[in-house]
Amino acid sequence: MEWLRLLLLMLSIYTCHVLQFKWVSVSVSASKLTELTRELLESAREAEFSDWLRRVRRRIHQNPELAFEEFETSQLIRSELDSLGIEYTWPLAKTGLVASVGSNSQLQPWFALRADMDALPIQELVEWEYKSKNPGKMHACGHDVHVTMLLGAAKLLKQRSSELQGTIKLVFQPGEEGHAGAFYMLKEGALDKVNAIFGLHVLPEMPTGTIGSRPGPMLAGSGRFVAIIRGKGGHAANPHVTRDPVLTASLAIISLQQIISRETDPLEAMVISVGFIEGGQAGNVIPETVRFGGTFRSMSTEGLSYLMQRIKEVIETQAAVQQCNATIDFLEDKLKPYPATVNDQAMYKHAKRVGESLLGEPNVQLIPMTMGAEDFSFYSQKIPAAFFMIGVNNETLKSNKNLHSPYLVIDEEVLPIGAALHAAVAISYLDGHLVETS
Ligand SMILES: *[C@@H]1O[C@H](CO)[C@@H](O)[C@H](O)[C@H]1NC(C)=O
Ligand SMILES: *[C@@H]1O[C@H](CO)[C@@H](O)[C@H](O)[C@H]1NC(C)=O
Repeated sequence: MEWLRLLLLMLSIYTCHVLQFKWVSVSVSASKLTELTRELLESAREAEFSDWLRRVRRRIHQNPELAFEEFETSQLIRSELDSLGIEYTWPLAKTGLVASVGSNSQLQPWFALRADMDALPIQELVEWEYKSKNPGKMHACGHDVHVTMLLGAAKLLKQRSSELQGTIKLVFQPGEEGHAGAFYMLKEGALDKVNAIFGLHVLPEMPTGTIGSRPGPMLAGSGRFVAIIRGKGGHAANPHVTRDPVLTASLAIISLQQIISRETDPLEAMVISVGFIEGGQAGNVIPETVRFGGTFRSMSTEGLSYLMQRIKEVIETQAAVQQCNATIDFLEDKLKPYPATVNDQAMYKHAKRVGESLLGEPNVQLIPMTMGAEDFSFYSQKIPAAFFMIGVNNETLKSNKNLHSPYLVIDEEVLPIGAALHAAVAISYLDGHLVETS
């Protein structure tokens, strides 16, 4: 492959003023990949390196911050990057940052690795030395681990920066948990000129030392809605002089389920769930209003817009039948709908191959689609992307509690694995790209 690279380089020197650059992908040889993944994992597992990873993760775990308030987490990341001598752009989307590793930050192609920084409004119930110090806040979705794995990758990449055949962008984003941090990072240019992106998420259902993903659609697109039914309140003994919003809300909620059972292809996954209803105080009073809301999900962007349009129509029309009025809010400013997370076929294959080389073929699993959502989808909508789950279950540690559980425990052995995987996916992506002239 080296001769080809040289040839193309010479060709491009001769003719580059008239050429457009284009990237073609060729696979790095299996033996080169084996050597790379082995070296990276060995480095990340060295006692000093993995102790540092644990310390970083525990510091972040003890100080969880909610969406767009990740000021100290962001500060911690920047100070680690400073000590590694890695440059970054900051702030993006309030608390986010993008670091750059490479021999020359203009060198193309650009490959991005992503971690999310925010915690959840959950009180940690695990009693351990590094328990969350912030009441009612917890890293119950493993974002502390995501940040640490990416810092680990930063350190591995920095050690090899002079050999990198392009530039690696490390994207630390705020507000993944329902707040579309990725959308705002993109809006502020975080991925401009970036060719492809890779992301990892911990998964307690899978054992440490395994990863999993799937080509194409992987996680659902998701939106929220809140409906207010306005009727006419009055004495419950005289329903005929009222306009009952309780009955109207009930009928509307039942009709919403028929969008799923009667209007959508049974082989296409869609969900509408109403999660709350509020209205009325007394058993003998018909209230003025009822408020209810929920989430809707689909494995495609078209499916998501279909659900959105029908939820509005169905609730408004049911309200009209009952002589009430309805307003429906999709909260698009506060809780932007997420598109579906769709893995690019080639990027999926690339990351799978790297994972197999790092962990062994049986330890890279094909996992089913799920209706969970993830704002990595905004990146996957824009450029070729692959999102992988990484196992953290260890029977001894009982680290198999669900994500978002106040009892979530992480097997920290995942830290060096995730760091090495991130770095290997990025380095071999750059190694597998040649300048093609066209
Ligand atoms: C619904 O809205 C219409 C038009 O604004 C209004 O005339 C009517 O009184 C409203 N009905 C209720 C039950 O609020
Ligand atoms: C699980 O964790 C224990 C305690 O940290 C460790 O000794 C063991 O090697 C781990 N098992 C695996 C499969 O990683």
